[in-house]
Amino acid sequence: MNHFSKDTRTAIEAKEEAQKIAFGPVIFQAAQAMRKNGLLQVIRDAGKLGITIAEAAEKTGLSEYGARVLMEASLGMGVCTLNEGKYAITKTGFFLLYDDLTIANIDFIDDVCYNGLAYLQESIETGKPEGLKVFGNWATIYEGLSSLPPHVQKSWFSFDHHFSDGSFPIVRKIVLGMGIKKLIDIGGNTGKWAISCVQQSPDMEVTMMDLPGQLRMAEKKVTELGLSDRIHFHPVNILDEKEQFPGGHDAIWMSQFLDCFSEAEITSILKRCYQALGDDGRLLILENFWDCQKFAAAAFSIQMTSLYFTALANGNSQLYDSEVFKKAVFAAGFIIEKQIDYIGEAGHTLLVCRKSMAETNA
Ligand SMILES: C[S@@+](CC[C@H](N)C(=O)[O-])C[C@H]1O[C@@H](n2cnc3c(N)ncnc32)[C@H](O)[C@@H]1O
Repeated sequence: MNHFSKDTRTAIEAKEEAQKIAFGPVIFQAAQAMRKNGLLQVIRDAGKLGITIAEAAEKTGLSEYGARVLMEASLGMGVCTLNEGKYAITKTGFFLLYDDLTIANIDFIDDVCYNGLAYLQESIETGKPEGLKVFGNWATIYEGLSSLPPHVQKSWFSFDHHFSDGSFPIVRKIVLGMGIKKLIDIGGNTGKWAISCVQQSPDMEVTMMDLPGQLRMAEKKVTELGLSDRIHFHPVNILDEKEQFPGGHDAIWMSQFLDCFSEAEITSILKRCYQALGDDGRLLILENFWDCQKFAAAAFSIQMTSLYFTALANGNSQLYDSEVFKKAVFAAGFIIEKQIDYIGEAGHTLLVCRKSMAETNA
């Protein structure tokens, strides 16, 4: 679905939108300040009748000046309305307070991305995540993930899990329905998927592949849950092309993983998947594609998240346009047997792929 085919705004609306972009960082900081200092909650609690600046200042303990500048800004932001000196929350303000997608996005941008995004232009020029230096000297964020400051890690995982949590139960039914007994989970991260699969399917085994730091965290959890006999660990830096994948599995699962890589890297990874799978093996890919979204807000979130990959994650990947992504899948020798779109609130797409019978030259 293409939400972007027409320029529907009048000139006046377009100029307003341009100002929202110009003041984007100010809007963002004002919204976060109002969430964190309780102003937004106090305005919400006042209901439709609304609340004056002096009352809101008193209830939050802010100075009247502090409450005033934020509340006045909230009008232009579309977060509050003003009638007869009283501020009331709008639907947008309500989403800022209570909507899961908005909260995961805003905290992720604040804690993980905000400072690093100042290096976006430099990152585009060098093809490296120049913004990552705000946290440490790693080549990619994944190498540093297990040692990021706790609040940054928390927002990173909440963001990641917000996307996967809603879709996993739906996709798990589909995947378990395929009768898979031995699965490789590449980029298995905290082990959420692997754990839930073996818990739901008593004769299933999963081999998790990920960077050693991530696997250590996952292994701890798996051991605590007493699942070590059915979840195995294969530490790997997938970018090392000498790394081949363990054979003897029915399927390979990759959720929100291939978006961590460039098109050429995706093809290289998938060629090794091709080698590891038998002729009947399945390749299962769960991704968010911005061109496969029902809602413009979802497509927008995905397009903006791509720039996190550019400035912070690795400098060369993104959440893809499905057509660009599929070219990398075909280049590795796979065909797409089935594509299921609009999965869960996050609008995931599941690609069920099979080996095409023509061998690749991997
Ligand atoms: C966005 S997370 C996906 C987590 C999980 N599959 C999900 O759907 O929630 C990407 C995962 O890929 C792993 N990863 C990134 N680069 C990697 C590399 N070069 N080799 C192995 N794993 C890598 C990260 O450690 C992380 O666990």
